[in-house]
Amino acid sequence: MRRILSTLACCLLPLIASAEGDAKYNASLPFRPSNITGLSDIYLWVGSYYNATTKIEFTPEIGSTINESVCENLQGQTFTAEYESFLAITERGPYNLGSNPVNTLLTLWHSDANLTSLSGLPWSSSSLEWYLESAPTVSSINKDIFNLTMSPDTKGPPYKLTGAIKDADLMVTGFDMDLKPCNTSTEISRNQMTLVDRDWSNNAGWNWTYPMVDVQFDSRTANFTLNGYAAGFPYPINPRGSMGRDEVQGKIKVSFFGVIDSYHSDTLVNSSSTPTWLRTVGFGNNSANIGYGNGSLGSPRPLHWGAVAVCSVVSLAFMYF
Ligand SMILES: *[C@@H]1O[C@H](CO)[C@@H](O)[C@H](O)[C@H]1NC(C)=O
Ligand SMILES: *[C@@H]1O[C@H](CO)[C@@H](O)[C@H](O)[C@H]1NC(C)=O
Ligand SMILES: *[C@@H]1O[C@H](CO)[C@@H](O)[C@H](O)[C@H]1NC(C)=O
Ligand SMILES: *[C@@H]1O[C@H](CO)[C@@H](O)[C@H](O)[C@H]1NC(C)=O
Ligand SMILES: *[C@@H]1O[C@H](CO)[C@@H](O)[C@H](O)[C@H]1NC(C)=O
Ligand SMILES: *[C@@H]1O[C@H](CO)[C@@H](O)[C@H](O)[C@H]1NC(C)=O
Ligand SMILES: *[C@@H]1O[C@H](CO)[C@@H](O)[C@H](O)[C@H]1NC(C)=O
Ligand SMILES: *[C@@H]1O[C@H](CO)[C@@H](O)[C@H](O)[C@H]1NC(C)=O
Ligand SMILES: *[C@@H]1O[C@H](CO)[C@@H](O)[C@H](O)[C@H]1NC(C)=O
Ligand SMILES: *[C@@H]1O[C@H](CO)[C@@H](O)[C@H](O)[C@H]1NC(C)=O
Ligand SMILES: *[C@@H]1O[C@H](CO)[C@@H](O)[C@H](O)[C@H]1NC(C)=O
Ligand SMILES: *[C@@H]1O[C@H](CO)[C@@H](O)[C@H](O)[C@H]1NC(C)=O
Repeated sequence: MRRILSTLACCLLPLIASAEGDAKYNASLPFRPSNITGLSDIYLWVGSYYNATTKIEFTPEIGSTINESVCENLQGQTFTAEYESFLAITERGPYNLGSNPVNTLLTLWHSDANLTSLSGLPWSSSSLEWYLESAPTVSSINKDIFNLTMSPDTKGPPYKLTGAIKDADLMVTGFDMDLKPCNTSTEISRNQMTLVDRDWSNNAGWNWTYPMVDVQFDSRTANFTLNGYAAGFPYPINPRGSMGRDEVQGKIKVSFFGVIDSYHSDTLVNSSSTPTWLRTVGFGNNSANIGYGNGSLGSPRPLHWGAVAVCSVVSLAFMYF
């Protein structure tokens, strides 16, 4: 009986809480209210979300140092890869210490990913191939990863932003690409690719440049391109072996030409010199959005920490009465 009561309380409490909306909602933070049913955490932020297939092109130039030429199998070729992806362009928050007018987050996904059923943040998903964020958008690490500068004299959308990725140490995260094995007896064609964004022994003397990011967006489309250099490390045939030694370095281009995902996007103001959104997702005032016209829009998402905490306390109370 007590078990039933506590279970009931757990089911009811969030509903009671939701009648008042999201009590923790703070309109001066760039987060959406948490009372939106079925909205996965990858849509946590106020802003616009765009979908596209990201295309990556890699052209080898040198081997593991300037003094090593590209192996024969890779010479004179450009390799491509494509990933399902989305680009979030979101409101800046108090954690942004720099002057970036917005935060950008590009995520690349495996084909099996179902973005509407993911729980948790994008980087906690095993279906995520790679992400590139302009700032750490949740944590309190208050340092932007790269600067984005808006073109001068902007009066409204489309907004045009550019930035260089310098010494951001993005080499710690990478994405896979199929090249060709340099040595077929030790390596497979799959390589782990990382952006070159700082000086290190393997790029000494090589004429590489920092990755340059260009973003254009308005209420309908968003384009994101990155031009720079990357290093590829072949995976060994024996999965337990160390990464192959035939490192290859060359030019990389990442291109995303996206279309607005209105269902998950707030309304971009079309007459503002800085990107600004009218909040609509979660407020039932945009018929294109998730949850519009749903009387029970207020029921909580599964991961509602406030409700979880209240639930545990109430369950404990019932257990001891
Ligand atoms: C969800 O929470 C927000 C913020 O508290 C509130 O304005 C909105 O009305 C809530 N939605 C519903 C349907 O309760
Ligand atoms: C809302 O967020 C702002 C900015 O971080 C903060 O200054 C303010 O205290 C918050 N308000 C509440 C009620 O927590
Ligand atoms: C490349 O070779 C030149 C000439 O032998 C040498 O000075 C330089 O240090 C070498 N660079 C690297 C990165 O090995
Ligand atoms: C993705 O997940 C949602 C929610 O669980 C489900 O309704 C939908 O059918 C799934 N889509 C695919 C293609 O599996
Ligand atoms: C970003 O801009 C700030 C202020 O101009 C500067 O101090 C910082 O070094 C820049 N960061 C990068 C990664 O370029
Ligand atoms: C391939 O790797 C094997 C094992 O390290 C080595 O014996 C062989 O010489 C390599 N072949 C070439 C073409 O580099
Ligand atoms: C290095 O690359 C830049 C930009 O592509 C080019 O302008 C310059 O001439 C190159 N320098 C050398 C020494 O190749
Ligand atoms: C993005 O690129 C497409 C294709 O070139 C173009 O039609 C669209 O206007 C661009 N979007 C923006 C916001 O510049
Ligand atoms: C964009 O992708 C998301 C996640 O897969 C999906 O829910 C949404 O319907 C897509 N929207 C468009 C316009 O393709
Ligand atoms: C700007 O938005 C307003 C209100 O949504 C709309 O009436 C107007 O047509 C829009 N203008 C342009 C140029 O898109
Ligand atoms: C929708 O409602 C929210 C909360 O009241 C408000 O901030 C926002 O401006 C409204 N959006 C539109 C398009 O009216
Ligand atoms: C409204 O939300 C409830 C609760 O999650 C859901 O079961 C129902 O399908 C939604 N209805 C519409 C029309 O979206």
